[in-house]
Amino acid sequence: MEFPSRTTLFVAAVLGGVVLYNTCLKRKKNLPPGPQGIPILGNAHQMPVGTPWLSFAEMGKKFGDIMHFDVIGKPFIIINSAKIARDLLDKRSNIYSDRPHFIMAGDLVGYDETFVLQPLGDNWRKQRRLIAQDFSQSMIPRYHSLQEKEAAILVRNLLKDPSSLLSEIQLRIGIIIVRVTFGYYIQSADDLFLKNPLAAMVNFGKATLPGNFFVDFLPALKYLPRWMPGAGFLSIADEWRKLVWDASWNPYDWCKKNLDTGKTLMPNLCGNYLVESNGKMSRDDELKLVWASSSVMGGGMDTSMSTTLSFLMAMILYPEVQAKAQAEIDSVIGKDRLPLISDRPRLPYVRSILAETFRWAPSFPMGIPHATREDDVYEGYEIPKGALIMPNIWHMLHDPAVYDKPDEFIPERFNGDEAEMAKTNALLFGFGRRVCPGQHFAEGTLFAIMATVLATCDVLPGLDEAGNEVLPKYEYTANGAITFPKPYTLRLRPRSPQATALLAEVQSTIE
Ligand code: HEM
Repeated sequence: MEFPSRTTLFVAAVLGGVVLYNTCLKRKKNLPPGPQGIPILGNAHQMPVGTPWLSFAEMGKKFGDIMHFDVIGKPFIIINSAKIARDLLDKRSNIYSDRPHFIMAGDLVGYDETFVLQPLGDNWRKQRRLIAQDFSQSMIPRYHSLQEKEAAILVRNLLKDPSSLLSEIQLRIGIIIVRVTFGYYIQSADDLFLKNPLAAMVNFGKATLPGNFFVDFLPALKYLPRWMPGAGFLSIADEWRKLVWDASWNPYDWCKKNLDTGKTLMPNLCGNYLVESNGKMSRDDELKLVWASSSVMGGGMDTSMSTTLSFLMAMILYPEVQAKAQAEIDSVIGKDRLPLISDRPRLPYVRSILAETFRWAPSFPMGIPHATREDDVYEGYEIPKGALIMPNIWHMLHDPAVYDKPDEFIPERFNGDEAEMAKTNALLFGFGRRVCPGQHFAEGTLFAIMATVLATCDVLPGLDEAGNEVLPKYEYTANGAITFPKPYTLRLRPRSPQATALLAEVQSTIE
Protein backbone atom coordinates (compact mmCIF):
# COMPACT_ATOMS: atom_id res chain seq x y z
CA MET A 1 0.00 0.00 0.00
CA GLU A 2 1.39 3.39 -1.00
CA PHE A 3 0.92 5.57 2.07
CA PRO A 4 1.71 9.24 2.29
CA SER A 5 3.68 10.29 5.36
CA ARG A 6 1.95 10.69 8.69
CA THR A 7 2.33 14.49 8.58
CA THR A 8 0.68 14.68 5.19
CA LEU A 9 -2.08 12.44 6.33
CA PHE A 10 -2.61 14.45 9.45
CA VAL A 11 -2.79 17.78 7.56
CA ALA A 12 -5.11 16.34 4.96
CA ALA A 13 -7.31 14.74 7.59
CA VAL A 14 -7.64 17.97 9.57
CA LEU A 15 -8.41 20.03 6.47
CA GLY A 16 -11.01 17.56 5.32
CA GLY A 17 -12.23 16.82 8.80
CA VAL A 18 -15.12 19.25 9.05
CA VAL A 19 -16.54 18.29 5.69
CA LEU A 20 -16.10 14.60 6.38
CA TYR A 21 -17.59 14.83 9.81
CA ASN A 22 -20.63 16.46 8.31
CA THR A 23 -20.80 13.65 5.82
CA CYS A 24 -20.69 11.14 8.63
CA LEU A 25 -23.43 12.97 10.51
CA LYS A 26 -25.59 12.95 7.42
CA ARG A 27 -25.15 9.19 7.03
CA LYS A 28 -28.36 7.49 6.22
CA LYS A 29 -29.73 5.58 9.12
CA ASN A 30 -30.90 2.47 7.39
CA LEU A 31 -27.85 1.32 5.51
CA PRO A 32 -27.13 -2.43 5.32
CA PRO A 33 -25.36 -3.84 8.39
CA GLY A 34 -21.60 -3.66 8.80
CA PRO A 35 -18.92 -3.20 11.43
CA GLN A 36 -19.06 -0.21 13.74
CA GLY A 37 -16.76 2.50 12.40
CA ILE A 38 -14.92 5.38 14.07
CA PRO A 39 -15.39 9.12 13.47
CA ILE A 40 -14.03 10.46 10.20
CA LEU A 41 -12.24 7.26 9.11
CA GLY A 42 -15.43 5.22 9.32
CA ASN A 43 -14.42 1.62 8.56
CA ALA A 44 -11.28 2.50 6.55
CA HIS A 45 -9.07 0.68 9.03
CA GLN A 46 -11.30 -2.44 8.87
CA MET A 47 -11.30 -2.84 5.08
CA PRO A 48 -9.68 -6.19 4.34
CA VAL A 49 -6.58 -6.27 2.17
CA GLY A 50 -4.90 -9.28 0.55
CA THR A 51 -7.75 -11.64 -0.20
CA PRO A 52 -10.83 -9.48 0.52
CA TRP A 53 -13.14 -12.09 -1.04
CA LEU A 54 -12.31 -14.50 1.80
CA SER A 55 -12.48 -11.82 4.51
CA PHE A 56 -15.82 -10.47 3.28
CA ALA A 57 -17.21 -14.00 3.15
CA GLU A 58 -16.16 -14.46 6.77
CA MET A 59 -17.65 -11.11 7.82
CA GLY A 60 -20.87 -12.08 6.04
CA LYS A 61 -21.41 -14.77 8.67
CA LYS A 62 -21.89 -11.98 11.18
CA PHE A 63 -23.44 -9.17 9.12
CA GLY A 64 -25.33 -11.02 6.38
CA ASP A 65 -25.30 -11.20 2.59
CA ILE A 66 -25.35 -7.47 2.02
CA MET A 67 -22.98 -5.31 4.07
CA HIS A 68 -22.10 -1.67 4.30
CA PHE A 69 -18.70 -0.11 5.01
CA ASP A 70 -18.09 3.61 5.35
CA VAL A 71 -14.62 4.49 4.08
CA ILE A 72 -14.00 8.13 4.98
CA GLY A 73 -17.53 9.06 4.01
CA LYS A 74 -17.66 6.84 0.90
CA PRO A 75 -20.25 4.04 1.08
CA PHE A 76 -19.08 0.57 0.04
CA ILE A 77 -21.75 -2.11 -0.39
CA ILE A 78 -20.51 -5.70 -0.40
CA ILE A 79 -22.80 -8.35 -1.88
CA ASN A 80 -22.14 -11.92 -0.80
CA SER A 81 -25.16 -13.66 -2.31
CA ALA A 82 -26.00 -14.49 -5.90
CA LYS A 83 -29.67 -13.65 -5.37
CA ILE A 84 -28.94 -10.12 -4.18
CA ALA A 85 -26.41 -9.58 -6.97
CA ARG A 86 -29.05 -10.59 -9.51
CA ASP A 87 -31.78 -8.52 -7.86
CA LEU A 88 -29.64 -5.39 -7.89
CA LEU A 89 -26.94 -5.61 -10.54
CA ASP A 90 -28.98 -7.50 -13.15
CA LYS A 91 -32.60 -6.56 -12.52
CA ARG A 92 -31.89 -2.93 -11.61
CA SER A 93 -29.02 -2.52 -14.02
CA ASN A 94 -30.20 0.98 -14.97
CA ILE A 95 -29.18 2.07 -11.44
CA TYR A 96 -26.28 -0.29 -10.70
CA SER A 97 -24.16 -0.33 -13.88
CA ASP A 98 -21.96 2.72 -13.37
CA ARG A 99 -18.31 2.51 -12.37
CA PRO A 100 -16.79 4.26 -9.37
CA HIS A 101 -14.50 7.18 -10.05
CA PHE A 102 -10.99 5.83 -9.45
CA ILE A 103 -8.49 8.56 -8.63
CA MET A 104 -5.32 6.47 -8.89
CA ALA A 105 -6.39 4.09 -11.68
CA GLY A 106 -8.43 6.70 -13.58
CA ASP A 107 -7.38 10.32 -13.06
CA LEU A 108 -3.72 9.61 -12.44
CA VAL A 109 -2.86 6.53 -14.53
CA GLY A 110 -5.50 6.84 -17.25
CA TYR A 111 -7.14 3.40 -17.26
CA ASP A 112 -10.44 5.27 -17.46
CA GLU A 113 -9.76 5.85 -21.16
CA THR A 114 -10.83 2.21 -21.59
CA PHE A 115 -14.54 1.50 -21.38
CA VAL A 116 -13.86 -0.93 -18.52
CA LEU A 117 -13.67 2.07 -16.17
CA GLN A 118 -15.79 4.53 -18.16
CA PRO A 119 -19.01 5.72 -16.54
CA LEU A 120 -22.19 4.73 -18.38
CA GLY A 121 -22.45 7.14 -21.30
CA ASP A 122 -21.75 7.62 -24.95
CA ASN A 123 -18.04 6.79 -24.88
CA TRP A 124 -18.66 3.59 -22.90
CA ARG A 125 -21.54 2.56 -25.19
CA LYS A 126 -19.62 3.11 -28.43
CA GLN A 127 -16.45 1.37 -27.28
CA ARG A 128 -18.45 -1.53 -25.91
CA ARG A 129 -20.39 -1.88 -29.16
CA LEU A 130 -17.13 -2.29 -31.11
CA ILE A 131 -16.18 -5.27 -28.93
CA ALA A 132 -19.66 -6.75 -28.62
CA GLN A 133 -19.95 -6.89 -32.42
CA ASP A 134 -16.50 -8.27 -33.16
CA PHE A 135 -16.61 -10.86 -30.35
CA SER A 136 -20.27 -11.85 -30.72
CA GLN A 137 -21.14 -15.55 -30.77
CA SER A 138 -21.74 -15.49 -34.50
CA MET A 139 -18.38 -13.80 -35.27
CA ILE A 140 -15.94 -15.71 -33.05
CA PRO A 141 -15.92 -19.08 -34.89
CA ARG A 142 -13.52 -17.41 -37.37
CA TYR A 143 -10.94 -17.47 -34.58
CA HIS A 144 -11.45 -21.12 -33.59
CA SER A 145 -8.63 -22.49 -35.74
CA LEU A 146 -6.20 -20.02 -34.17
CA GLN A 147 -7.34 -20.98 -30.65
CA GLU A 148 -7.05 -24.70 -31.46
CA LYS A 149 -3.62 -24.33 -33.05
CA GLU A 150 -2.20 -22.33 -30.13
CA ALA A 151 -3.68 -24.82 -27.66
CA ALA A 152 -1.82 -27.65 -29.44
CA ILE A 153 1.46 -25.71 -29.53
CA LEU A 154 1.05 -24.92 -25.84
CA VAL A 155 0.78 -28.63 -25.01
CA ARG A 156 3.61 -29.56 -27.37
CA ASN A 157 5.95 -27.01 -25.75
CA LEU A 158 4.94 -27.94 -22.21
CA LEU A 159 5.66 -31.58 -22.99
CA LYS A 160 9.18 -30.52 -24.00
CA ASP A 161 9.73 -28.18 -21.07
CA PRO A 162 7.19 -28.29 -18.23
CA SER A 163 9.24 -25.74 -16.28
CA SER A 164 8.07 -23.10 -18.78
CA LEU A 165 4.51 -23.47 -17.46
CA LEU A 166 3.76 -19.82 -16.67
CA SER A 167 5.75 -18.20 -19.48
CA GLU A 168 4.35 -20.61 -22.09
CA ILE A 169 0.76 -20.01 -20.97
CA GLN A 170 1.36 -16.24 -21.03
CA LEU A 171 2.87 -16.48 -24.48
CA ARG A 172 0.16 -18.65 -26.08
CA ILE A 173 -2.76 -16.72 -24.63
CA GLY A 174 -1.00 -13.45 -25.43
CA ILE A 175 -0.53 -14.63 -29.02
CA ILE A 176 -4.26 -15.35 -29.36
CA ILE A 177 -5.43 -12.05 -27.85
CA VAL A 178 -2.96 -9.78 -29.67
CA ARG A 179 -3.52 -11.63 -32.96
CA VAL A 180 -7.31 -11.16 -32.85
CA THR A 181 -7.06 -7.56 -31.66
CA PHE A 182 -4.28 -6.14 -33.87
CA GLY A 183 -3.42 -8.82 -36.44
CA TYR A 184 0.08 -9.10 -34.97
CA TYR A 185 1.64 -12.49 -34.20
CA ILE A 186 3.81 -12.32 -31.09
CA GLN A 187 7.17 -13.98 -31.69
CA SER A 188 8.53 -14.56 -28.20
CA ALA A 189 7.99 -13.90 -24.51
CA ASP A 190 10.27 -10.83 -24.84
CA ASP A 191 8.02 -9.12 -27.37
CA LEU A 192 6.95 -5.73 -26.01
CA PHE A 193 3.49 -6.19 -27.50
CA LEU A 194 3.15 -8.95 -24.90
CA LYS A 195 5.26 -7.62 -22.04
CA ASN A 196 3.67 -4.16 -21.95
CA PRO A 197 0.02 -5.27 -21.60
CA LEU A 198 0.99 -7.93 -19.07
CA ALA A 199 2.77 -5.34 -16.92
CA ALA A 200 -0.11 -2.88 -17.39
CA MET A 201 -2.54 -5.52 -16.11
CA VAL A 202 -0.51 -6.11 -12.96
CA ASN A 203 -0.65 -2.36 -12.33
CA PHE A 204 -4.38 -2.26 -13.09
CA GLY A 205 -4.97 -4.86 -10.41
CA LYS A 206 -3.01 -2.87 -7.88
CA ALA A 207 -4.53 0.47 -8.84
CA THR A 208 -8.16 -0.67 -8.65
CA LEU A 209 -8.04 -2.86 -5.56
CA PRO A 210 -9.91 -0.75 -2.99
CA GLY A 211 -7.60 0.25 -0.17
CA ASN A 212 -4.36 -0.01 -2.11
CA PHE A 213 -3.93 3.74 -2.68
CA PHE A 214 -4.96 6.23 -0.06
CA VAL A 215 -5.51 8.94 -2.66
CA ASP A 216 -8.72 7.10 -3.60
CA PHE A 217 -10.07 7.94 -0.14
CA LEU A 218 -8.67 11.47 -0.02
CA PRO A 219 -8.75 12.70 -3.65
CA ALA A 220 -7.21 16.07 -2.72
CA LEU A 221 -3.91 14.22 -2.22
CA LYS A 222 -3.54 14.04 -6.00
CA TYR A 223 -2.61 17.74 -5.91
CA LEU A 224 0.34 17.18 -3.57
CA PRO A 225 3.57 18.61 -4.94
CA ARG A 226 5.73 15.80 -6.26
CA TRP A 227 8.66 16.66 -3.99
CA MET A 228 6.59 16.22 -0.84
CA PRO A 229 7.24 13.17 1.33
CA GLY A 230 4.41 10.73 0.74
CA ALA A 231 3.79 11.88 -2.84
CA GLY A 232 5.62 8.85 -4.25
CA PHE A 233 2.37 7.48 -5.62
CA LEU A 234 2.39 10.33 -8.19
CA SER A 235 5.68 9.13 -9.70
CA ILE A 236 4.30 5.59 -9.75
CA ALA A 237 1.26 6.91 -11.59
CA ASP A 238 3.44 8.68 -14.19
CA GLU A 239 5.38 5.51 -14.88
CA TRP A 240 2.22 3.38 -15.12
CA ARG A 241 0.57 5.92 -17.40
CA LYS A 242 3.37 5.73 -19.94
CA LEU A 243 3.12 1.95 -19.89
CA VAL A 244 -0.64 1.96 -20.57
CA TRP A 245 -0.14 4.35 -23.47
CA ASP A 246 2.63 2.23 -24.98
CA ALA A 247 0.66 -1.00 -24.47
CA SER A 248 -2.41 0.48 -26.18
CA TRP A 249 -1.06 2.69 -28.97
CA ASN A 250 2.05 0.86 -30.22
CA PRO A 251 0.28 -2.30 -31.46
CA TYR A 252 -2.54 -0.19 -32.90
CA ASP A 253 -0.06 1.99 -34.84
CA TRP A 254 1.66 -1.17 -36.08
CA CYS A 255 -1.65 -2.64 -37.23
CA LYS A 256 -2.65 0.54 -39.07
CA LYS A 257 0.75 1.01 -40.72
CA ASN A 258 0.97 -2.58 -41.89
CA LEU A 259 -2.47 -2.90 -43.39
CA ASP A 260 -0.93 -1.69 -46.63
CA THR A 261 2.22 -3.81 -46.41
CA GLY A 262 0.09 -6.93 -45.90
CA LYS A 263 1.85 -7.84 -42.64
CA THR A 264 -1.29 -7.21 -40.60
CA LEU A 265 -3.02 -10.58 -40.33
CA MET A 266 -6.73 -10.43 -41.04
CA PRO A 267 -9.34 -10.62 -39.64
CA ASN A 268 -8.64 -8.69 -36.47
CA LEU A 269 -10.59 -6.16 -34.43
CA CYS A 270 -8.69 -3.00 -35.37
CA GLY A 271 -7.96 -4.07 -38.92
CA ASN A 272 -11.63 -4.91 -39.54
CA TYR A 273 -12.81 -1.45 -38.47
CA LEU A 274 -9.96 0.37 -40.22
CA VAL A 275 -10.69 -1.43 -43.50
CA GLU A 276 -14.42 -0.79 -43.10
CA SER A 277 -13.81 2.96 -42.62
CA ASN A 278 -11.74 3.03 -45.83
CA GLY A 279 -9.20 5.51 -44.44
CA LYS A 280 -11.88 7.92 -43.27
CA MET A 281 -12.01 7.09 -39.56
CA SER A 282 -12.43 10.25 -37.46
CA ARG A 283 -9.91 10.96 -34.70
CA ASP A 284 -12.68 10.47 -32.15
CA ASP A 285 -13.60 7.04 -33.54
CA GLU A 286 -9.93 6.11 -33.65
CA LEU A 287 -9.54 6.96 -29.95
CA LYS A 288 -12.53 4.77 -29.14
CA LEU A 289 -11.11 1.90 -31.18
CA VAL A 290 -7.69 2.12 -29.49
CA TRP A 291 -9.12 2.15 -25.99
CA ALA A 292 -11.66 -0.56 -26.77
CA SER A 293 -8.77 -2.71 -28.05
CA SER A 294 -6.82 -1.98 -24.92
CA SER A 295 -9.84 -3.22 -22.93
CA VAL A 296 -9.69 -6.53 -24.80
CA MET A 297 -6.07 -7.03 -23.83
CA GLY A 298 -6.81 -6.05 -20.25
CA GLY A 299 -9.93 -8.20 -19.96
CA GLY A 300 -8.74 -11.19 -21.93
CA MET A 301 -5.18 -12.04 -20.94
CA ASP A 302 -4.73 -12.53 -17.20
CA THR A 303 -8.21 -13.99 -16.71
CA SER A 304 -7.62 -16.74 -19.27
CA MET A 305 -4.06 -17.40 -18.02
CA SER A 306 -5.24 -17.79 -14.44
CA THR A 307 -8.05 -20.14 -15.50
CA THR A 308 -5.63 -22.32 -17.49
CA LEU A 309 -3.31 -22.62 -14.47
CA SER A 310 -6.27 -23.52 -12.24
CA PHE A 311 -7.42 -26.20 -14.70
CA LEU A 312 -3.99 -27.88 -14.80
CA MET A 313 -3.79 -27.73 -11.02
CA ALA A 314 -7.21 -29.37 -10.72
CA MET A 315 -6.17 -32.14 -13.10
CA ILE A 316 -3.17 -32.92 -10.88
CA LEU A 317 -5.23 -32.88 -7.70
CA TYR A 318 -8.15 -34.88 -9.14
CA PRO A 319 -6.68 -37.67 -11.35
CA GLU A 320 -10.03 -39.50 -11.40
CA VAL A 321 -11.65 -36.46 -13.06
CA GLN A 322 -8.84 -36.40 -15.58
CA ALA A 323 -9.28 -40.11 -16.40
CA LYS A 324 -13.04 -39.73 -16.85
CA ALA A 325 -12.61 -36.80 -19.25
CA GLN A 326 -9.96 -38.70 -21.23
CA ALA A 327 -12.33 -41.63 -21.58
CA GLU A 328 -15.07 -39.31 -22.87
CA ILE A 329 -12.73 -37.81 -25.47
CA ASP A 330 -11.46 -41.22 -26.56
CA SER A 331 -14.97 -42.57 -27.07
CA VAL A 332 -16.41 -39.47 -28.81
CA ILE A 333 -13.43 -38.16 -30.83
CA GLY A 334 -11.24 -41.26 -31.05
CA LYS A 335 -7.47 -41.06 -31.29
CA ASP A 336 -7.00 -40.09 -34.91
CA ARG A 337 -7.49 -36.35 -34.55
CA LEU A 338 -7.31 -33.58 -31.97
CA PRO A 339 -10.58 -32.26 -30.49
CA LEU A 340 -12.11 -29.11 -31.98
CA ILE A 341 -14.06 -26.32 -30.31
CA SER A 342 -17.05 -27.38 -32.39
CA ASP A 343 -16.97 -30.77 -30.57
CA ARG A 344 -18.14 -29.01 -27.39
CA PRO A 345 -21.78 -30.16 -27.44
CA ARG A 346 -20.64 -33.79 -27.70
CA LEU A 347 -18.24 -33.55 -24.75
CA PRO A 348 -20.44 -32.69 -21.75
CA TYR A 349 -17.92 -33.92 -19.17
CA VAL A 350 -15.08 -31.79 -20.57
CA ARG A 351 -17.55 -28.93 -20.75
CA SER A 352 -18.36 -29.57 -17.05
CA ILE A 353 -14.65 -29.38 -16.22
CA LEU A 354 -14.55 -25.93 -17.79
CA ALA A 355 -17.59 -24.81 -15.76
CA GLU A 356 -16.18 -26.33 -12.58
CA THR A 357 -12.83 -24.60 -13.11
CA PHE A 358 -14.71 -21.30 -13.45
CA ARG A 359 -16.60 -22.04 -10.22
CA TRP A 360 -13.72 -23.48 -8.20
CA ALA A 361 -11.27 -20.71 -9.06
CA PRO A 362 -12.91 -17.53 -10.36
CA SER A 363 -10.04 -15.42 -11.69
CA PHE A 364 -11.82 -12.10 -11.00
CA PRO A 365 -12.92 -12.96 -7.42
CA MET A 366 -14.54 -9.60 -6.65
CA GLY A 367 -15.29 -8.68 -10.29
CA ILE A 368 -14.87 -5.02 -11.12
CA PRO A 369 -16.74 -2.67 -8.74
CA HIS A 370 -19.99 -1.13 -9.95
CA ALA A 371 -21.45 2.17 -8.72
CA THR A 372 -25.01 3.41 -8.22
CA ARG A 373 -26.36 6.26 -10.35
CA GLU A 374 -29.16 7.15 -7.93
CA ASP A 375 -30.42 6.41 -4.43
CA ASP A 376 -32.16 3.07 -4.09
CA VAL A 377 -33.91 0.97 -1.46
CA TYR A 378 -33.50 -2.82 -1.22
CA GLU A 379 -35.42 -4.90 1.33
CA GLY A 380 -35.72 -1.79 3.48
CA TYR A 381 -32.00 -0.90 3.26
CA GLU A 382 -31.00 2.40 1.73
CA ILE A 383 -28.31 2.24 -0.94
CA PRO A 384 -27.00 5.75 -1.59
CA LYS A 385 -26.23 7.24 -4.99
CA GLY A 386 -22.50 6.94 -5.78
CA ALA A 387 -22.04 3.89 -3.54
CA LEU A 388 -19.32 1.49 -4.63
CA ILE A 389 -20.85 -1.95 -5.14
CA MET A 390 -18.60 -4.98 -4.83
CA PRO A 391 -20.00 -8.41 -5.77
CA ASN A 392 -18.12 -11.16 -3.95
CA ILE A 393 -18.13 -13.54 -6.91
CA TRP A 394 -15.75 -15.95 -5.20
CA HIS A 395 -18.11 -16.44 -2.31
CA MET A 396 -21.19 -16.71 -4.54
CA LEU A 397 -19.48 -19.59 -6.35
CA HIS A 398 -18.39 -21.17 -3.05
CA ASP A 399 -21.63 -20.70 -1.16
CA PRO A 400 -22.12 -24.01 0.72
CA ALA A 401 -25.89 -23.48 0.62
CA VAL A 402 -25.72 -23.75 -3.19
CA TYR A 403 -22.61 -25.85 -3.87
CA ASP A 404 -21.96 -28.94 -1.78
CA LYS A 405 -18.28 -29.20 -0.71
CA PRO A 406 -17.48 -25.94 -2.51
CA ASP A 407 -13.69 -26.18 -2.22
CA GLU A 408 -13.66 -29.56 -3.95
CA PHE A 409 -13.44 -29.93 -7.71
CA ILE A 410 -16.52 -31.94 -8.69
CA PRO A 411 -17.62 -31.54 -12.34
CA GLU A 412 -20.42 -34.07 -11.67
CA ARG A 413 -22.29 -31.38 -9.73
CA PHE A 414 -23.59 -30.04 -13.06
CA ASN A 415 -24.88 -33.45 -14.25
CA GLY A 416 -23.69 -32.50 -17.72
CA ASP A 417 -26.55 -29.99 -17.84
CA GLU A 418 -25.79 -26.80 -19.81
CA ALA A 419 -28.41 -24.84 -17.87
CA GLU A 420 -26.67 -25.64 -14.57
CA MET A 421 -23.30 -24.65 -16.01
CA ALA A 422 -24.79 -21.41 -17.34
CA LYS A 423 -25.66 -20.43 -13.76
CA THR A 424 -21.94 -20.44 -12.96
CA ASN A 425 -21.15 -18.29 -15.98
CA ALA A 426 -23.89 -15.86 -15.02
CA LEU A 427 -21.89 -15.06 -11.88
CA LEU A 428 -18.32 -15.49 -13.09
CA PHE A 429 -18.59 -13.03 -15.96
CA GLY A 430 -20.23 -10.22 -14.02
CA PHE A 431 -23.52 -8.44 -14.13
CA GLY A 432 -26.05 -6.25 -15.86
CA ARG A 433 -24.91 -3.92 -18.61
CA ARG A 434 -21.31 -4.53 -17.60
CA VAL A 435 -21.34 -8.27 -18.17
CA CYS A 436 -18.07 -9.43 -19.75
CA PRO A 437 -18.26 -9.02 -23.55
CA GLY A 438 -15.45 -11.56 -24.04
CA GLN A 439 -16.99 -14.56 -22.32
CA HIS A 440 -17.77 -16.64 -25.42
CA PHE A 441 -14.34 -15.97 -26.85
CA ALA A 442 -12.71 -16.89 -23.52
CA GLU A 443 -14.71 -20.11 -23.36
CA GLY A 444 -13.43 -21.07 -26.82
CA THR A 445 -9.77 -20.55 -25.89
CA LEU A 446 -10.14 -22.41 -22.60
CA PHE A 447 -12.13 -25.30 -24.02
CA ALA A 448 -9.52 -25.76 -26.77
CA ILE A 449 -6.72 -25.87 -24.18
CA MET A 450 -8.56 -28.24 -21.83
CA ALA A 451 -9.70 -30.66 -24.51
CA THR A 452 -6.26 -30.75 -26.18
CA VAL A 453 -4.45 -31.39 -22.89
CA LEU A 454 -6.87 -34.16 -21.93
CA ALA A 455 -6.80 -35.80 -25.38
CA THR A 456 -3.02 -35.98 -25.55
CA CYS A 457 -1.45 -36.02 -22.06
CA ASP A 458 -1.58 -37.19 -18.50
CA VAL A 459 -1.08 -34.23 -16.18
CA LEU A 460 1.09 -35.24 -13.22
CA PRO A 461 2.55 -33.46 -10.20
CA GLY A 462 6.06 -32.03 -10.42
CA LEU A 463 8.97 -33.67 -8.59
CA ASP A 464 11.22 -32.27 -5.87
CA GLU A 465 14.99 -32.65 -5.89
CA ALA A 466 14.73 -36.09 -4.30
CA GLY A 467 12.33 -37.23 -7.01
CA ASN A 468 9.22 -37.15 -4.82
CA GLU A 469 5.94 -35.91 -6.23
CA VAL A 470 4.87 -32.47 -4.96
CA LEU A 471 1.16 -31.79 -5.04
CA PRO A 472 0.10 -28.18 -5.65
CA LYS A 473 -1.80 -26.43 -2.87
CA TYR A 474 -5.21 -24.92 -3.52
CA GLU A 475 -3.89 -21.45 -2.69
CA TYR A 476 -4.26 -18.18 -4.56
CA THR A 477 -2.30 -14.94 -4.87
CA ALA A 478 -3.48 -11.82 -3.03
CA ASN A 479 -3.36 -8.07 -3.63
CA GLY A 480 -4.74 -7.83 -7.12
CA ALA A 481 -8.12 -7.72 -8.85
CA ILE A 482 -7.20 -10.95 -10.67
CA THR A 483 -5.95 -13.90 -8.65
CA PHE A 484 -3.67 -16.76 -9.76
CA PRO A 485 -2.85 -20.15 -8.26
CA LYS A 486 0.36 -19.84 -6.25
CA PRO A 487 3.32 -21.21 -8.27
CA TYR A 488 3.43 -24.99 -8.63
CA THR A 489 5.20 -27.49 -10.87
CA LEU A 490 3.85 -30.24 -13.12
CA ARG A 491 4.89 -32.94 -15.55
CA LEU A 492 3.08 -33.96 -18.72
CA ARG A 493 3.28 -37.49 -20.13
CA PRO A 494 2.06 -38.20 -23.69
CA ARG A 495 -0.88 -40.60 -23.62
CA SER A 496 0.23 -42.43 -26.77
CA PRO A 497 2.64 -42.18 -29.71
CA GLN A 498 -0.38 -41.14 -31.82
CA ALA A 499 -1.02 -38.22 -29.50
CA THR A 500 2.59 -37.06 -29.85
CA ALA A 501 2.34 -37.41 -33.63
CA LEU A 502 -0.90 -35.39 -33.78
CA LEU A 503 0.71 -32.57 -31.80
CA ALA A 504 3.83 -32.67 -33.96
CA GLU A 505 1.72 -32.28 -37.12
CA VAL A 506 0.33 -28.89 -36.00
CA GLN A 507 2.04 -26.18 -38.06
CA SER A 508 3.83 -23.37 -36.25
CA THR A 509 3.23 -21.00 -39.16
CA ILE A 510 2.10 -17.44 -38.53
CA GLU A 511 -1.50 -16.92 -39.63
C1 HEM B 1 -12.02 -16.47 -18.00
C2 HEM B 1 -12.02 -15.35 -18.66
C3 HEM B 1 -12.71 -14.10 -18.22
C4 HEM B 1 -13.33 -13.80 -17.04
C5 HEM B 1 -13.46 -14.66 -15.80
C6 HEM B 1 -13.85 -12.45 -17.15
C7 HEM B 1 -14.57 -11.82 -16.16
C8 HEM B 1 -15.03 -10.51 -16.24
C9 HEM B 1 -15.72 -9.83 -15.18
C10 HEM B 1 -16.08 -10.41 -13.82
C11 HEM B 1 -15.97 -8.57 -15.61
C12 HEM B 1 -16.67 -7.44 -14.83
C13 HEM B 1 -18.14 -7.42 -15.16
C14 HEM B 1 -18.90 -6.46 -14.26
O1 HEM B 1 -18.48 -5.32 -14.10
O2 HEM B 1 -19.94 -6.88 -13.69
C15 HEM B 1 -15.45 -8.45 -16.96
C16 HEM B 1 -15.52 -7.31 -17.72
C17 HEM B 1 -14.92 -7.17 -18.94
N1 HEM B 1 -14.29 -8.18 -19.68
FE1 HEM B 1 -14.01 -10.10 -19.10
N2 HEM B 1 -13.53 -11.96 -18.39
C18 HEM B 1 -12.85 -12.92 -19.08
C19 HEM B 1 -12.38 -12.84 -20.38
C20 HEM B 1 -12.47 -11.73 -21.18
C21 HEM B 1 -12.02 -11.65 -22.56
C22 HEM B 1 -11.43 -12.81 -23.37
C23 HEM B 1 -12.24 -10.36 -22.97
C24 HEM B 1 -12.00 -9.75 -24.33
C25 HEM B 1 -12.39 -10.24 -25.45
C26 HEM B 1 -12.83 -9.63 -21.86
C27 HEM B 1 -13.17 -8.30 -21.88
C28 HEM B 1 -13.82 -7.64 -20.84
C29 HEM B 1 -14.16 -6.22 -20.89
C30 HEM B 1 -13.83 -5.25 -22.01
C31 HEM B 1 -14.86 -5.92 -19.69
C32 HEM B 1 -15.46 -4.58 -19.26
C33 HEM B 1 -16.95 -4.50 -19.61
C34 HEM B 1 -17.60 -3.17 -19.24
O3 HEM B 1 -17.16 -2.49 -18.31
O4 HEM B 1 -18.60 -2.79 -19.91
N3 HEM B 1 -12.96 -10.50 -20.80
N4 HEM B 1 -14.88 -9.66 -17.33
